[in-house]
Amino acid sequence: MEVRFRDIPADRVKSDLVVIPVPDQRLEDPVIRILDRRLQGRLRGRMSKSNFTGADGNTLLYPTGGMLPAAYLFLIGIGAANTGADIWRKAGAKARKEAAAIGADEFAVLFAPGKNSDSAAGAIVEGAELAGYQFNKYRSNGKPATEMKSLTLFASGLKKTTALEKAVATAQTTVPGVFLARDLVNEPPSVATAKFLGAQTQRVCQGRGLTVEVWNKKKIEAMKLAGLLAVNRGSFEEPRFIRIQYRPAGKARKRVALVGKGITFDSGGLSLKPSKSMETMKLDMAGGAAVIATMSCLPKLGVDVEVTGYVPTTDNLPGQNAQKPGDVIRYLNGKTIEVLNTDAEGRLILADALALAAQQRPDYMINLATLTGACMTALGTQVGGIFSNNQVLADLLLRCSHDAGEKLWQLPLVKEYKELIKSSVADMKNIGGAHGGAITAALILQEFVGDTAWAHLDIAGPAFAEGDNVLCPRGGTGFGVRTLVKFLMSL
Ligand code: BES
Ligand code: MN
Ligand code: ZN
Repeated sequence: MEVRFRDIPADRVKSDLVVIPVPDQRLEDPVIRILDRRLQGRLRGRMSKSNFTGADGNTLLYPTGGMLPAAYLFLIGIGAANTGADIWRKAGAKARKEAAAIGADEFAVLFAPGKNSDSAAGAIVEGAELAGYQFNKYRSNGKPATEMKSLTLFASGLKKTTALEKAVATAQTTVPGVFLARDLVNEPPSVATAKFLGAQTQRVCQGRGLTVEVWNKKKIEAMKLAGLLAVNRGSFEEPRFIRIQYRPAGKARKRVALVGKGITFDSGGLSLKPSKSMETMKLDMAGGAAVIATMSCLPKLGVDVEVTGYVPTTDNLPGQNAQKPGDVIRYLNGKTIEVLNTDAEGRLILADALALAAQQRPDYMINLATLTGACMTALGTQVGGIFSNNQVLADLLLRCSHDAGEKLWQLPLVKEYKELIKSSVADMKNIGGAHGGAITAALILQEFVGDTAWAHLDIAGPAFAEGDNVLCPRGGTGFGVRTLVKFLMSL
C-alpha cells in the first residue's frame, strides 16, 4: 500500500472513499460544514437520523451521488478530541475495511490529528495495514485479501515532514513482522514443528545484518539445555534452539536479549490437558514467533541496538519416553527443578534459555511467553502481564506497549511467594500453590536471570484472538512485535 500526503481540502479530494474522523459532539466542525453545504444539507440530515455523534465506534457511510469528487464519505467517530494512537489505529483499520467493502482499491483519510501527528500517521497506516490480514492457506475457497493500492492522508495545509514519513515507514516495516508472527501461530501444529520454526527463521532472517543459528538435538545436548531436552522427551519431533543475532552498522547503544517460548503444541505432557484446553494450544509458540518476527524487522528499521533472539522450541507430548512428575532437571547454572506437573513446561524450557542469554551480560533481557492460564484469569484475553526486576525497564516497556496499542499491566514478583515453589528434593518445584500461578511462574523464571535487568511478558491472553476484530481475525495476533519494535527504537 502506497501512502501519500496531500495538501487539499476535503471537498476537493477525488477518491472512492473519503474518510472523515469526527470527534465526539463536534458535528459543527468546519470540515463537516463545508461538506454538508456541498451536499445541500443532506449529510447533516443523515447524521441526525442515524444518531451519529462522533462517539468512538460510531460510523456513517454516505454516498455523495456525484455531488462531490468523492464517491463515498465515511465518517468515523473518534471519541474525545486530541485522541491517542489507539483510536487512530482502529480508525485506519475501519477505513480500510470499508474501502474493501465498497470494492475500492484506494482511500483517503482526512489527517488533522491536532497533536502527536507523527504517531497518529503511523497508527493510521499501521491500522490500515493490519486490517488486511487473512490466513486462507487452508481454505479451498480462500480468496486473497482485497489489495489496497494506496492511502492518501490529506488536509488543507498538510505538510509532509521527514518525521511523518519515518513514522509511516516504521509502521510499514513492522506490520509484515506482525503478519509473520500471526502466520507462524496460525499454522497447524503438525506443520509448525520445531524444525519448521528453525527453517522459517532461516528463511526470513538470514542475511543483511542478521545471523541465524539453529541448533539440533545433538548441539542442544552439548550445550546442556536440560529443560528443553526434558520437555522434548515425550515427543517424536526433535527440538531446536534458535539463536538470531542482529548487529547494527554503527556502534550499538545497548545490548538486548529477547527470549521467546516456542512450544509448538502443548498437550500438557503426562499431566495431560482436557481436550477443550488443547484446542488452541498451537498458540504456545507465540512468544517465540514474536521474537523471530521482531528480529526479522530490525535490519530494515536500522535499529542501533545489538539484539540477540533466543527461541527454545519443541512440542510438549506424552510419548513413551516422556518426563514424569517427580523427575528432576539439573540446569546449566547448577540449579535444579523438580517437575511435579509436566504441563508447567514453558518455565522449564525458558530457564535454559534465560540462563544462557544472561551469560552474555545484556543490558536488558525480555522474555515473551504464553506462560499461564492464571495470567489470563487475572487480566483477561486482551491484556498481557509484565513482571520485572528493574522498574526502569518495566516503565519503558509499559510506555512502548501503550503507544503500540498492545495492553500490558504490571504484576508483582512477590518474594514471599517463593515459599510456594520450595521442593522437598530439589532447589525448587515447577508449580506453586492454588493461587497466584502467574506470579509463581515468574518467580521460577527469575531464578535464572541472575542480576540482569529483565522483564517477563506473560502473553497467554493476548497472543490469540478468540474472535474477529478490526485489527485482527480469530487466531494469532502477533502480540508483542509492535511493543518490542517501539522499545528497541526508543533505546
Ligand atoms: N501454555 C500453557 C498456558 C496457557 C493456558 C496459555 C491457556 C494460553 C492459554 C502453559 O504451559 C500451562 O499449561 N500452564 C499451566 C501451569 C500449571 C500446570 C501450573 C496452567 O496455566 O494451567
Ligand atoms: Mn503447559
Ligand atoms: Zn505451555
